[in-house]
Amino acid sequence: MAKKKSKKAKAKSKPAAKKPARKVVKLAAKKPAVKKANGNSKSAAPKMSNKPYGLDGKALDGVRILDFTHVQSGPTCTQLLAWFGADVIKVERPGVGDITRGQLVDVKGADSLYFTMLNHNKRSITIDSKHPQGMRVLNELIKKCDVLVENFAPGALDRMGLTWDYINKLNPRMIVASVKGFGPGPYEDCKVYENVAQCAGGSASTTGFREGPPLVTGAQIGDSGTGLHLALGIVSALFQRNRTGRGQKVLCAMQDGVLNLCRVKLRDQQRLKVGPLAEYSQFGEGVAFGAAVPRAGNDSGGGQPGWILKCKGWETDPDAYIYFITQAPVWQAICDIIGEPTWKTDPEYATPRARLPKLKAIFRRIEDWTMTLTKFEVMTQCNEHDIPVGPILSMKEIAEEPSLRATGTVVEVDHPTRGKYLSVGNPIKMSDSVSEVTRSPLLGEHTDEILTDVLGFKANEIAEIKNSGALSAPKKEEKAA
Ligand code: COA
Repeated sequence: MAKKKSKKAKAKSKPAAKKPARKVVKLAAKKPAVKKANGNSKSAAPKMSNKPYGLDGKALDGVRILDFTHVQSGPTCTQLLAWFGADVIKVERPGVGDITRGQLVDVKGADSLYFTMLNHNKRSITIDSKHPQGMRVLNELIKKCDVLVENFAPGALDRMGLTWDYINKLNPRMIVASVKGFGPGPYEDCKVYENVAQCAGGSASTTGFREGPPLVTGAQIGDSGTGLHLALGIVSALFQRNRTGRGQKVLCAMQDGVLNLCRVKLRDQQRLKVGPLAEYSQFGEGVAFGAAVPRAGNDSGGGQPGWILKCKGWETDPDAYIYFITQAPVWQAICDIIGEPTWKTDPEYATPRARLPKLKAIFRRIEDWTMTLTKFEVMTQCNEHDIPVGPILSMKEIAEEPSLRATGTVVEVDHPTRGKYLSVGNPIKMSDSVSEVTRSPLLGEHTDEILTDVLGFKANEIAEIKNSGALSAPKKEEKAA
């Protein structure tokens, strides 16, 4: 991990200038290390920082990542690690780079938003991994990095010659982290994109309306969701390496990641065996359940019934809606606010059980009220009574929301070829590891810097590698006259 000498080590190697400090070190050294249940010794704990919170570096300072990722899932993972302070070196194919640089282009000649929004805080080096001189550079990177992250198609890393055995021999401390579409099994060799994972992981089957076809969601739970899972696996492997001294493989299959996010639906699948799912609105409507968990439309999925209701302006604004939850403890307040005070005591409405078969009609009545107000007015009035509601915010509204700008969840980034653009910053806020968002790298922008500063190649070696063509796009063949 960190090549820097720890403060403790530095203190030890200094000549003892101050007597008391030396004495403390001596005493600590004589004391037998207290073994804790987890095998760590108490004496290994670093001295507590006395710098103000947020000013003592970042959580992953000193961790170096060899980033072989492309498209969305892998880059999401390495971008998070970069925000936590890791030095992320993105290896890209010379002349081409991550394919998303040129996908959904909105500014001619500039990297797309698809690329820039997933590759902040990274450095880029171009290497042809199938060129012998390219492999020479990669070997050095493997020795210098802590983690290799990749999301190539199954077998592609092995075909480059970068098998686990090869990497592990070169750097036994290296963690090799992969996103694949499927785990071991009948589909493990398949290439997979977002929507394939949503379908294979149980999301599409359980999303949408009962009467309609399966639906994919706008949230990229297959790509970005799996990238998030992988980041946690990597950080855990780094933590374990502190104890074991060795690396390991970390695998996140997109199908598994989606299923993990659909956990509650597997819960419901098992509950089906003992009877109908009373919180699904089809129960109240008297529609029989089949063998598998059905699509539940906008049902809340928890024990508290909810639905999406129209608000003022819904005829012209596709987002003039609010999610309304008829949470049992605030039922009385709901009755008052919508103008149905008798429902508070009427046995037909007073209990959650009595309301279940009539949920559709109840929500229609609540909607009569929400349609008289804007979604924000509904939110204000309901919040005064602790009634949980959620306005349907459009991407335009989110982009313009000042509180999201203030927390750094939505950030404006400047880029040399495309100018200013909005991005989503680090959604995970830490008090002692504060993230700043810096722009994504241009293709190969840091090639020289990495060869020199990270890998220590001499000028003549760099010239040799460059002249071999391993770091540049193959020259286009001249057309015959
Ligand atoms: N130098 C030389 N070759 C390189 C290279 C480099 N720097 N970087 C990539 N390549 C090569 C690979 O070695 C591979 O060659 P091979 O097939 O001859 O072995 C080739 O580029 C293509 O890589 P691949 O990963 O197969 O890209 P693809 O565009 O064909 O497939 C995916 C894209 C996303 C479908 C596939 O990578 C995949 O299934 N990944 C795992 C699941 C995943 O992450 N999916 C979601 C993506 S958001």
